[in-house]
Amino acid sequence: MIIKTISLRNFRNHSSFHFDFSNNLNVLTGENAAGKTNIVEAIYYLSLGRSFRANEDIELIKRNQDQAEINATIEEGELTRKIKIKITRQGRVIMINGKNIQKLSELAKCVNVILFQPKDVMLFSGPPRDRRNFLDISISKKSAMYLDYISRYEKVLKERNDILKSEKPDRTLLDVTTDLLIKLSGSIISYRQMYVKDINDILNKITRALTGVNEKFELKYYPFVSYDTDYTENAKKAFKRAEESDFKHKQTSIGVHREDISISLNGRDIAIFGSQGENRIAALALKLSPYFLIEDKDKKPIVVLDDVMSELDDKHQQRLIKFLRKFNQVFITGTKLDIPDCNHLLIKKEEKEVF
Ligand SMILES: Nc1ncnc2c1ncn2[C@@H]1O[C@H](COP(=O)(O)OP(=O)(O)O)[C@@H](O)[C@H]1O
Ligand SMILES: [Mg+2]
Repeated sequence: MIIKTISLRNFRNHSSFHFDFSNNLNVLTGENAAGKTNIVEAIYYLSLGRSFRANEDIELIKRNQDQAEINATIEEGELTRKIKIKITRQGRVIMINGKNIQKLSELAKCVNVILFQPKDVMLFSGPPRDRRNFLDISISKKSAMYLDYISRYEKVLKERNDILKSEKPDRTLLDVTTDLLIKLSGSIISYRQMYVKDINDILNKITRALTGVNEKFELKYYPFVSYDTDYTENAKKAFKRAEESDFKHKQTSIGVHREDISISLNGRDIAIFGSQGENRIAALALKLSPYFLIEDKDKKPIVVLDDVMSELDDKHQQRLIKFLRKFNQVFITGTKLDIPDCNHLLIKKEEKEVF
């Protein structure tokens, strides 16, 4: 898919802006605080219905204004969709082709964005939640069923934690929720196991293209119990073992909400032994891998690299650009970028308002 146009109204520092984008490489340059990341943020919002850096939607509304608007035209092969998002202080409205949508999954189906930002160099050494988020978002963009399992799991998990928090936990109810969690976890683990295997089939092709060196990167997944023939029995035992701690801490201590992934380079964990450069390449390759796991060419994700070029040396920059030319549509931001044969957009700061 590609974004043909985007119009922003009172979104962050942009009061009124319209952009036409092209296939393949779109390069956004401009001085610091010109509003490049703000544009990327609007693009990302189209894909998940939330920002990657705002805690609350109202932060997205331009200062002293009542509402922000994102209007975008998305092309998926022959299909054109118009998306309108209105963010007010009371809430927000999302429309696809003039029709209000209630479920975020409808938006998620229309736009798929892969985002890479400078802080992703910390992907492996940072909190497990970021790595689980990567897995959950990427898998759900490929299989809508997965998103359903995750939201059902989260609901049951909350129920189980509420039971544990109550003064006298109801044993029967607790067992019911435990069984449900085990069932849902089985589906989630099998999806995660499969997805990680698929990533490993392509990860080294990507890292080789990015570095020119043949090294072995491997993604590892640590399920709380493997999904095999003995899964249910083993999961029940694991929950039984964790029960004392669950009662004591009044929360569910094991399960897919606590799982993690890691990457090893030539057999050694990159979070512990890897250099910053190796971490950056591994994170970049991992983030790009879902692109190759979506088979339908028209549905392939839009790739956004926010402010990452300056962190790479010349050789890696050249390799990355060459690699990105294979993609349907890419957005690259930076203060100064000299990239030939691309759609170059200069982002300018608006005149300062006088109060
Ligand atoms: N809600 C808002 N209203 C007005 N300006 C905002 C808002 N949120 C952020 N900004 C401004 O946007 C600018 C940062 O834009 P950003 O996209 O991060 O810049 P860059 O081009 O460096 O990526 C800052 O000057 C910030 O004050
Ligand atoms: Mg920025």
